[in-house]
Amino acid sequence: MQKISQSAYRRLEKAARSAAASAYAPYSKFPVGAAVLCGSGRIYPGCNVENASYGLCNCAERTAVFRAVAAGETAIRAVAVYTPTRLPTTPCGACRQVINEFGPDALVLCVCDADARIDTKLSALLPGAFGPASLP
Ligand code: THU
Repeated sequence: MQKISQSAYRRLEKAARSAAASAYAPYSKFPVGAAVLCGSGRIYPGCNVENASYGLCNCAERTAVFRAVAAGETAIRAVAVYTPTRLPTTPCGACRQVINEFGPDALVLCVCDADARIDTKLSALLPGAFGPASLP
């Protein structure tokens, strides 16, 4: 896989930070922004979208992944997640599983309002993942 440039990382992180402004989070009041860098080099942002029926809330990461796939992208190279907190937030279990479908080797960059950050890989967040190759 092609190496990701520093400028692509910066654009990805910036897209995640900007996306949080669109969050619809009246219940949790926890706005989240995410962005995915795809095989084409394009970046797709997403935010969390909550619902009065709480169980239907959709995380920012999944919004970004679904946008990318709806645009025809099926390879995710990196994901950035931004939360307006002092410590970075990693993707929830459901989002890890959804990212795995399209980016088992993806890098995951978690950023916040302080310098603290978590730069990791999806495979470290979801070891031994069940995925497309697990099916006969
Ligand atoms: N949330 C995300 O969008 N991404 C995460 O990584 C953690 C949680 C959202 C879901 C819900 O709208 C709110 O944050 C509180 O859990």
